[in-house]
Amino acid sequence: MNTGNHVVIFDTTLRDGEQAPGCSMTLKEKLEVGRQLARLGVDVIEAGFPISSIGDFESVRAIAEKIGNMDTGPCKKPPTIAGLCRSREKDIARAAEAVKPARFPRIHTFIATSPIHRDRKLRMSREQVVESAVNAVKYAKTFVDDVEFSLEDAGRTEWDFMVEVVAAVIDAGATTVNIPDTVGYCQPDQYAAQIRHIFENVPKAKEAIISVHCHNDLGLAVANSLAAVKQGARQIECTINGLGERAGNASLEEIVMNLRTRSDYFGCDTVIASEELFNTSRLVSQVTGQRVQANKAIVGANAFAHEAGIHQDGMLKDKSTYEIMTPESVGWRGEGLVMGKHSGRHAFRDRLAELGFELDGDDFERCFTRFKEVADKKKDVYDDDLVALAQEALFQNKTDSWVFEYMSAMTGTTISPTATVRLSYEGRVYTDAAMGDGPVDAVFAAIDRITANPLKVLEYQIEAVTEGQDAMGRVTLTVTRADCPGKNRVKGRGVATDIIQASAKAYIAALNALDRLEKLQAQRGETNTSEEVPLNVP
Ligand code: KIV
Ligand code: ZN
Repeated sequence: MNTGNHVVIFDTTLRDGEQAPGCSMTLKEKLEVGRQLARLGVDVIEAGFPISSIGDFESVRAIAEKIGNMDTGPCKKPPTIAGLCRSREKDIARAAEAVKPARFPRIHTFIATSPIHRDRKLRMSREQVVESAVNAVKYAKTFVDDVEFSLEDAGRTEWDFMVEVVAAVIDAGATTVNIPDTVGYCQPDQYAAQIRHIFENVPKAKEAIISVHCHNDLGLAVANSLAAVKQGARQIECTINGLGERAGNASLEEIVMNLRTRSDYFGCDTVIASEELFNTSRLVSQVTGQRVQANKAIVGANAFAHEAGIHQDGMLKDKSTYEIMTPESVGWRGEGLVMGKHSGRHAFRDRLAELGFELDGDDFERCFTRFKEVADKKKDVYDDDLVALAQEALFQNKTDSWVFEYMSAMTGTTISPTATVRLSYEGRVYTDAAMGDGPVDAVFAAIDRITANPLKVLEYQIEAVTEGQDAMGRVTLTVTRADCPGKNRVKGRGVATDIIQASAKAYIAALNALDRLEKLQAQRGETNTSEEVPLNVP
């Protein structure tokens, strides 16, 4: 299909990105990321893999319902919502049900085509793979018009077989055909030639959109995707901050800014509202707990910092000496406006809206109260502090059973670290104390004594929200039940000017998340909702 000079941006942060270790998100977090992706103007949101778990199904469905009907973004229309599925009827029907509420639903079905996957993983012949692919597309077409087919590991597939599959799925009705470099093996020239080969050898190639999906194992995901665009590919699958399996996927912000900054070279562009890139990157980083490296292109903290004297001199004379795009064009504002304890509700609400947060009712009030508390302790409150507070208010569950009331901790070189914690559970107050290796460990041990159901901390991350001595600390941790490790893993996050308090809050947030998950599993009669369906079944 000829999209002219429009490159379709297919965001898979919520699917391939979420598949990466430590990147799982709650439903609320997915909805917030989905909302921001819609504001950014992505054409397609791949919301998940519905057959993989009940939780995944429910989040795809919720995104289809809420984000898939929101007239927003630069085009003032909802994005297409895609659900991934293998080429099996049960998977396809489940994906169809999940994306159904969206105004523009898409089924994205796939099967591996490379010899190594056919022989070792699927144990299927070429003929069986083609048959499966065609049947999958035909079956998906009974639910929706917009069907995407992916040739998993196309990058290592024989070109003659690739041509055969692409032609067959277009004949069967696929509207988009994706050529993934699943293992990040291809080189730009080679991959470009592979895409050109499709246009030269599949007579109906132009009746579908040819899409690319590149992994970054050799650091070439962006380069490969862009090389394919030069040959006529008109959909790029990518993720915010380049999240994804292993070394990740092509980074959306790099793709978009390459196409925009060098439209003279590519002759095409996207409809992305690039001023939303920085907010989107920060949201995804904070929700997943994956920090963005300082020298990351486009959205890294140093992406627009000019340190060398000669560069600073040039910048003062004319910014274009060392800047090929402006920081404003990607929404980068440095530390932003400073707010303090005298800032009022109105200014606070306006600033949050500029940062991409529209909080209402209770969420806004909670956030404003916390802002005043923080402003009392810390002279200047920066954008990153506000984002942390907004996320705290948004993602906090109002039905939490365990509520943090109070803590104190003592430590020193000659005393054993000791902590006292007070929590309430459904209105009843519990206090206990414990010792630990350090004050954080003592706080966790005191909480474990209260709940009598200890947790095991699998990951613990602490970072300063902003620069400076009085910066707030953000703790992100992953826990499981100590007596049942590996069954359910959940994340908790806490923000406070005191890092021990931030740790306590994160631990309690994780405790509540685990309680909720276990209650849900009991209601559904399941043992583990986070169980993943392997992608290797045809
Ligand atoms: O990397 C890959 O091949 C994928 C497909 C399922 C599109 O993620
Ligand atoms: Zn992938």
